[in-house]
Amino acid sequence: MSTATIAHKPKDIVIAVVKEQAAGEQRVAAVPEVVHKLTSSGYEVRVEHDAGAGAFYPDDLYVAAGAKIAPGRAELLDGATIVLCVQPLAIADVEMLSASTIVIGFMNAANNLSTVARMRDREVTAFALELVPRITRAQSMDALSSQATAGGYAAAILGAYNCPKFLPMLTTAAGTIRPATVLILGAGVAGLTAIATAKRLGAMVEAYDVRRAAGEQVRSLGAKFLELEINAESEGGYARELTPEEKVKEQQMVSAAVARADIVITTASIPGRKAPVLITKETVATMHPGAVIVDLAAESGGNCELTQSGKTVKEHGVTIVGPQNLPARVAFHASQMYARNLQSFLSLLINEGGALTREFTDEILAASLLVSAGEVRHQPTLDLIRGGRL
Ligand SMILES: NC(=O)c1ccc[n+]([C@@H]2O[C@H](COP(=O)([O-])OP(=O)(O)OC[C@H]3O[C@@H](n4cnc5c(N)ncnc54)[C@H](O)[C@@H]3O)[C@@H](O)[C@H]2O)c1
Repeated sequence: MSTATIAHKPKDIVIAVVKEQAAGEQRVAAVPEVVHKLTSSGYEVRVEHDAGAGAFYPDDLYVAAGAKIAPGRAELLDGATIVLCVQPLAIADVEMLSASTIVIGFMNAANNLSTVARMRDREVTAFALELVPRITRAQSMDALSSQATAGGYAAAILGAYNCPKFLPMLTTAAGTIRPATVLILGAGVAGLTAIATAKRLGAMVEAYDVRRAAGEQVRSLGAKFLELEINAESEGGYARELTPEEKVKEQQMVSAAVARADIVITTASIPGRKAPVLITKETVATMHPGAVIVDLAAESGGNCELTQSGKTVKEHGVTIVGPQNLPARVAFHASQMYARNLQSFLSLLINEGGALTREFTDEILAASLLVSAGEVRHQPTLDLIRGGRL
């Protein structure tokens, strides 16, 4: 056995699943199906009381899967080897962890610098799932994608729910009803799922993305791709920010498409930056009364100028929905997908013999390692921590 692995009998590895504390968070990091796989491999799994209740996984299903239920946070975290979470832990939780504990979940480090600094000081190891590289080998652990899938689906349903029209064409004794037009701005993972969902509901779907490569995926779902002579694909397949001239061209084309749509779902984002504004207040005024905008970028500034994060507002007769944490609205399946992502990630950390690696040289582990051995390992977070003198 390498010196980088620590010998453990599986039973010595205690995997703890927290009850999420963030307001509106209904998801849970491990579902009974995944817990059963872990306990069957011999690991001890502890689940905080009611951790799965918000996603409709009651405690008794975890017990049937071989887990122990911990009545509270202190009992859960005491002696835990690995802690699984969806949202970042609170500082009070970090205080209860021992130095060798490994925490895995979304870390949202830029907005949780004090917690990151505390994990560093307590020599906790933390992996941020949002940093998992988008390489083929990491697809099964890509929680950004699984949760964007849940968000895109929920956005299409929210759009349909708020729309006063039918989405499909209907031929009835009362005459023929034209199908609704749905426009999706931003055809990444969430946008493509929103397209597929709106198509299944029978709408006519159009979509636009600054990455020309998205066109083929949009067309393969049976939707129309709006072409603009801009290709803003940059490093790693993500979009770059547009130049001022490109932004003007984009807004003109987007405005015309927005004006004819019954539902607009916006998902455009640029990693680490404020979301681009694609729909101005003047464009909203050109939409039909009863039209709906669902702005998936609401939490990062909004793709529509009139979006209010966490609220549904009506402007010029248009309903503008600014949802927060959409994946939590489909918590049952969002949790199932997230838990499978974690199970796959865990397979990199614990080998079949039950040894827990402490040398995180694997490409995926190295890229997603946020804190270890008393140091912040992710350079952009380290820069922010130093800037804030934490
Ligand atoms: N394992 C993999 O290989 C893997 C997995 C998931 C995603 N990806 C790729 O990563 C990329 C990002 O996906 P994501 O869903 O996380 O994206 P994201 O959430 O960062 O952004 C959503 C979409 O908004 C688009 N966008 C940005 N600015 C825009 C603008 N001004 N106007 C219109 N659209 C704009 C982006 O191009 C992207 O498609 C995509 O190329 C996707 O195919 C690869």
